[in-house]
Amino acid sequence: MTYKIPFSGRAIDYTEDEIQTVVTAMKTADPLTQGKYLKEFEQKFAEYIGSPKCFAMCNATAALEICAQLGQFKPGDEVVVPAHTFTSSVYPFVKKGVTPVWADIDLKTRVVTAETIERCLSPKTKAIIVVHLYGYVADMPSIMALAKKHNLLVIEDAAQSIGGSINGKQSGTFADLAVFSLHSHKNITTLGEGGVLAVNNEKFVNIIPQLRHNGHCAFSFERQDYWIPAMGNVDMPQLNGEPVWPNNYCLGEVECALGTKLLQRLDPINAQKRRRAISLIDALKSYSELEFHREDSVRHNYHLLAGRITHGKRDDFIRKMATEKSVQCVVQYYPLYRYDFYKKLKLDKANCPNTDLFFDNMVSFPFQHRLTDQEFLYLQEAIKDVLNELRK
Ligand SMILES: Cc1ncc(COP(=O)(O)O)c(C=O)c1O
Repeated sequence: MTYKIPFSGRAIDYTEDEIQTVVTAMKTADPLTQGKYLKEFEQKFAEYIGSPKCFAMCNATAALEICAQLGQFKPGDEVVVPAHTFTSSVYPFVKKGVTPVWADIDLKTRVVTAETIERCLSPKTKAIIVVHLYGYVADMPSIMALAKKHNLLVIEDAAQSIGGSINGKQSGTFADLAVFSLHSHKNITTLGEGGVLAVNNEKFVNIIPQLRHNGHCAFSFERQDYWIPAMGNVDMPQLNGEPVWPNNYCLGEVECALGTKLLQRLDPINAQKRRRAISLIDALKSYSELEFHREDSVRHNYHLLAGRITHGKRDDFIRKMATEKSVQCVVQYYPLYRYDFYKKLKLDKANCPNTDLFFDNMVSFPFQHRLTDQEFLYLQEAIKDVLNELRK
């Protein structure tokens, strides 16, 4: 079925300038990976978010895989995680044998808080994963204070929150490690795939290039001829005297060139999304049966626009939007513990009433940046019409 307003898998259209940047990189980059565009992108990204060190990756999931490796977890270790998130916020850690402990979300903001995390701590807790879901930056100052008190590693999943900040400090700069996604859906995308690992804890910086690129490293001695004994060395990356296995998670030069260019447009894109979100929320404020999280500040980039239907008619609402208005709303972030994946692993025990209540009544509206003003207004009026009908 085609919709007048689909929930599009593509967030943005590229400008002619951005297309030209891609074409130039295609024509001139040599090599096509691991070259000057990578260095420039990493530097500009780090400057933009205000991080000491950033590494481009092929996607945020790869960056999360590296975070899970850097945690050097042992079986039986516990990691506190939200269940209301995308699958790859959590499974790279579970792969390492840790037990996820499911922290509930705050019903209004839909993200974890220091209080919901604290309830999950035990002597076995080693790390906390915080996800800035929908683009709203969780209360990192309080969460970092809690983590410090208990000496825990913190990882920010800032996949959706690029450009969001609290008191001038950007998401992805609070925790030891943070990941960003440049996937097709995100506010900026490097041709569909891409990611960044931001590192605030110095002890992790040196190992990452080797972990990202097949264990490649320099020889420990000066060579007389550059090809003897080989063009380059491969060794087992080491952290705290323990081996950490290498990967190949590089991002190509064309994507990096585009990433640098898109950083120039990120603030206007985020501002436009926030402006639209706030105007839609305000236009619908007399409809108490549809509850939004209103945050008119740079703490929210409104990557997604999600609401909660409070009168129990969520499915009627989505059905009418689809069949009568041709607007494709969706439901997102099935609590992870409900997936077969976690049931089969017997990791499905949770006490997260807000996560369940929110998911069972949530609706995510098509909110891609490329919607025209006309389409956006149509969306707003369609929501009103359907809510009015459901009141009858
Ligand atoms: C919260 C969250 N974490 C992680 C990811 C994974 O990002 P990527 O697709 O770049 O691997 C996503 C992407 O959808 C996400 O939304």
